[in-house]
Amino acid sequence: MKRLACLTAASALLASGSLHASESSASPDLDEARAIVKQFATQLQGELATAIKEGGPVKAIGVCKERAPAIASELGASRGWEVKRTSLKVRNTELNAPDGWERRVLNDFAQRQAAGAEVQTLVQSAVVETNGVKRFRFMQAIPTGEVCLACHGTAIAPEITAALDEQYPDDQARGFSLGEIRGAFSLSKPL
Ligand code: HEC
Repeated sequence: MKRLACLTAASALLASGSLHASESSASPDLDEARAIVKQFATQLQGELATAIKEGGPVKAIGVCKERAPAIASELGASRGWEVKRTSLKVRNTELNAPDGWERRVLNDFAQRQAAGAEVQTLVQSAVVETNGVKRFRFMQAIPTGEVCLACHGTAIAPEITAALDEQYPDDQARGFSLGEIRGAFSLSKPL
């Protein structure tokens, strides 16, 4: 109840459609979500780069597998957020598959990119009610960068392909090109 003001602000933002990633907002929830995403992205990319440098991409698969969910819950849990990554084409089908709302937002991001929007600017927030529980939800698109192509691109090295085949038999997250939307950070918090 105490979050009614934020909720109203979030709804207003939702009504106004898309938001530019660098705009500040009147909603503390939205600001917090953005701050968590920034930290998550920075920490994960840092650990990924170090792992690739030290052990090569096959070893770095472990960082994405173990560290991504660990960092997500470390950053979210203490502040009451659920933090994950998702995509229309997931590698980890058990952990990262999108729910209905996430799928709609991801499709909307794809349309907005096709219409000329920069991937970095694609964010969406909403108050979503599921089984009578209202949650503030936030998503931010993740672009495919150069470093990502080793494991998500169109020409993945045979040893990486073999390791991925073994660990992710249902992998759909290959064949991406530079600049394409790889997926999104997805955060939610009960109101
Ligand atoms: C060393 C290989 C490797 C590299 C490099 C890599 N990834 Fe991944 N990525 C993975 C693995 C493995 C998973 C599955 C993680 C899991 O089990 O949760 C994954 C999962 C993801 C997911 C979650 C959705 C899904 O498909 O399950 C996203 C989003 C993602 N990666 C984005 C990126 C981006 C963006 C980059 C570049 C900055 C990147 N990855 C670089 C291996 C990699």
